[in-house]
Amino acid sequence: MITSAADYHRHTGYDRHSLGVPRFLDWTNQPNTYKEYPGLKTTAISRDISHDAMLSRIIGEKYPGQSSADFSFEHLCSILGLTYTLTGKTHHSGGGVFFHRSVPSAGGLYPCELYMASRYVPGLESGLYHYAMGQHVLEEMRTGNFNEKGYVLTFFITVIFFRSAWKYRDRAYRYHLLDSGHLIENLVLTLKSLNLPFESDYDFDDECVSHLLGLDPEKEVCLAAVGVPGSDSDSGAETAEKLPESFYKASKMAFGESSYPAVEEIHRNTARGVIQREPVPDILSQTGIFPHSWIKIPSPDIFPEKMNYSQAIQKRRSLRNFVKTPLPKIQFEALIAFLCADDLADDTVCTGFLSGNVEGLEPGCYWLNRSESSAGQTQSGILTDNMAHICLNQEWLSQAALLFFFVTNLKYLEQTFGPRGYRHAMLTAGRLGQRLYLAATVLGLGCCGIGAFYDKEAGGLLELNEDSEMLYLAAAGPVKKFD
Ligand SMILES: Cc1cc2nc3c(=O)[nH]c(=O)nc-3n(C[C@H](O)[C@H](O)[C@H](O)COP(=O)(O)O)c2cc1C
Repeated sequence: MITSAADYHRHTGYDRHSLGVPRFLDWTNQPNTYKEYPGLKTTAISRDISHDAMLSRIIGEKYPGQSSADFSFEHLCSILGLTYTLTGKTHHSGGGVFFHRSVPSAGGLYPCELYMASRYVPGLESGLYHYAMGQHVLEEMRTGNFNEKGYVLTFFITVIFFRSAWKYRDRAYRYHLLDSGHLIENLVLTLKSLNLPFESDYDFDDECVSHLLGLDPEKEVCLAAVGVPGSDSDSGAETAEKLPESFYKASKMAFGESSYPAVEEIHRNTARGVIQREPVPDILSQTGIFPHSWIKIPSPDIFPEKMNYSQAIQKRRSLRNFVKTPLPKIQFEALIAFLCADDLADDTVCTGFLSGNVEGLEPGCYWLNRSESSAGQTQSGILTDNMAHICLNQEWLSQAALLFFFVTNLKYLEQTFGPRGYRHAMLTAGRLGQRLYLAATVLGLGCCGIGAFYDKEAGGLLELNEDSEMLYLAAAGPVKKFD
């Protein structure tokens, strides 16, 4: 029985000397890639998006935009097209085709679904919609206004447990959260790029949202909601009647789905909302890290961006062909500036990096103070080789100029924020991962998220105290072939 996030991490940790790492897949039970609601009325979303904002401009905005008053259907097309969309395909030697999306996903399993409650969108009846991303259409689930808090739009990001659990079993909930974090970040950056105000919420009532969306809560759950405020604070939301049984059945993705009790238990365990939402001043010291020296990392005057945000969304891929070319200083400074921008509160997570090959920077282990844009060093020497070995011997990681990692103290997190703090930390780690993917892409660099690692060994290499864990890692740096 899982009783806490620390328990869940212990239970799902990979260990070099014992099993736990997935070894075979039951192809007869492969989950559906797309959720289907046969027979619902659909509205097509245009793929024609004219959008030329640069990432540096988007993250440089101090506050979300001012008004959603002139919201149009074109805005909606941009939001959906830039948040969650198919971006290309790879043909496998065996004849299969893999469709890439605007977000990465552990194992390419894409557990996330996107729903939307709308009101006052010209050309779209107020209602609740499922976004069928494969066909790029909205499926009308119910009509009426289901926006709370005066929102004109509310997006709901859900995950279907079995999609990732099919491969990763009990460890899948980590990837459910990280993958969702990637998607939240795309959504939020897109809203910012359109100068739309927004509020993200990870602390809603799970049962109410499952009821509204017609989810089978043992199979599919909502992990985040993002609302776009309107001009009045009371939206006059309607009470949602129970949807027909067929909606609940749509959460099933394969004939013989197995259930993974640890996934359901950790989700239930983290149901209680956060205790406190004051910023935590010093999560770094809680992980047992006390850097011996700090360096300021200035933000470049001009970011060396090779493409705009919408091009980066299309071009983003997980690249693994890193080369030992030193990372130029200006690109390093730009990457750090993108990560340190103060629009992404990350008081549940500490960010650090192993520098392997950065112009003018001693190889070693560094930790970011995001508000100061500075890095504190704790270790010297090339540690990227060791980390590659720890990441299930993915040796290509040792070639990367930088290995970023996201860390938290699970015990402190629970004491400070309550059980739901775990969701906050993992979603934030995913958001930072997506920020890094996009930053690397606009700079013409490679990036790849890494969720597979021997947990205890990672904590040991980073010198974390026993209550702290590495949640996620992402490699970034020059690659052999970017295009
Ligand atoms: C949470 C997460 C964990 C991942 N872990 C790994 C990993 O351990 N090794 C790896 O090579 N790729 C990893 N990836 C990258 C995925 O394999 C990749 O996103 C997926 O195959 C789709 O390809 P694309 O990102 O190029 O579109 C991870 C991605 C995410 C979001």
